[in-house]
Amino acid sequence: MTAAEFVVVANRLPVDRVVSHDGEEIWRTSPGGLVAALEPVMRSVDGAWVGWAGQADLELEPFVANDLKLIPIALSEQEVAEYYEGFANDTIWPLYHDVIAPPQYHREWWDSYVTVNRRFAEAAADAVAPKGTVWVHDYQLQLVPEMVRALRPDVTIGYFHHIPFPAHGLYAQLPWRDQVLRGLLGADVIGFQRAQDATYFLAAVRRRLQYGVKGSMVDVPAETGSRPVLAKAFPISIDTSPYLELVAKPEVRARAAEIRQSLGNPKRILLGVDRLDYTKGIRHRIKAYGELLAEGRLQVEDVTLIQVASPSRERVDAYVHLRDEIELSVSRINGDTDTMGHTAIRYLHQGFPREEMVALYLAADVMLVTALRDGMNLVAKEYIASRADNRGALVLSEFTGAADELRQAIRVNPHDIEGLKDAIMTAVEMDPAEQSRRMRSLRKRVLEHDVRAWSASFLDALAAVRSRHA
Ligand code: G6P
Repeated sequence: MTAAEFVVVANRLPVDRVVSHDGEEIWRTSPGGLVAALEPVMRSVDGAWVGWAGQADLELEPFVANDLKLIPIALSEQEVAEYYEGFANDTIWPLYHDVIAPPQYHREWWDSYVTVNRRFAEAAADAVAPKGTVWVHDYQLQLVPEMVRALRPDVTIGYFHHIPFPAHGLYAQLPWRDQVLRGLLGADVIGFQRAQDATYFLAAVRRRLQYGVKGSMVDVPAETGSRPVLAKAFPISIDTSPYLELVAKPEVRARAAEIRQSLGNPKRILLGVDRLDYTKGIRHRIKAYGELLAEGRLQVEDVTLIQVASPSRERVDAYVHLRDEIELSVSRINGDTDTMGHTAIRYLHQGFPREEMVALYLAADVMLVTALRDGMNLVAKEYIASRADNRGALVLSEFTGAADELRQAIRVNPHDIEGLKDAIMTAVEMDPAEQSRRMRSLRKRVLEHDVRAWSASFLDALAAVRSRHA
């Protein structure tokens, strides 16, 4: 493969491997917004994407799928256990989400994280053209910016952190806290979701490494004096166009009506859509809803909660326990309140294609986003993009990045179960005029700040910082 001007590095490739009945292998572009955001850039400048195909022990040569140049990184079984399930998802993930679950610190997991980060960095350094750009994504790869810089000082390096960055009191727990900061500071621009994340990161840099920090700029000591690094919020968004196209389709609207019908046409449908993750506040949401039914503030004939919980990280203990807890409380509530014709909670431990998700968004009068901590929460933005009819109410946790932007949502502290119950009732009882007033303003925000605007503003900042020391 020829050298690429623009190289994206992310833990996952933007394609899923699908093997058909007759054994034929095809690569389907995954529906994530990141691919959509970067596709125009990748096509205009000769881009490549470095990532893992999602299966252990899969050794693949670089290949082209749907016009994207892909450079697969192989992970052994042990590396999947130690780097991905271990350090990324059982150390960093819980620590950075305010220790909602206890982070596990294991030295062999760290060693594996270093080894795998180096493999990604070497692949990126090999792939990128002279003076090209490398854009590294997310918490699985925090050491990659520094490693790429050591191998290829000529290239421009961006890093975007999709999850929260914790306050110093928590961050300080990490036995490898200084190494991780230095890893990130290999980038020219470090992007965060919220202003608060950038502030916490800059405070950690000042405190732990004693580097000079002025506003959003860090002076990183370098061989030739110092190198400026920008650390700032660039709140991510979604590609709104597929949502706008789908809601305009008569068959999608018909499917939304069919969903309502199949639930016995309740007066109100409430919806939760999450990866089955302890950060999402699914238990809190179900508890509040169950109490509203038990207290008679809601009647099972009138309401149904559809909870889509897509399977995620199923070999990590905290996720196994969470699933048991949620499934126990769902079946208790349904057992206590269901009638032959109505169910309190329709629980689906499955993922669905985007078309079905949009039908669900259209069927739902109330969208519940009750995360205890969430970098952004794109489900909230997908719901808004889908409500071209200006109907529906969004209950949104103040602990999500989205809460900084979506000011017209009904804000909640999900730890406050009474407050959450009141917020659910406000949403259930909101009249159409008020729904419309709020939804118009939410839609304006999401449609104007889509994922293209996000990637453009990050890449502009990257070019500007780099020009200061070119
Ligand atoms: C979050 C992370 C992503 C990650 C995704 C799915 O959104 O920020 O980096 O890819 O969850 O998790 P998974 O472990 O399946 O990649």
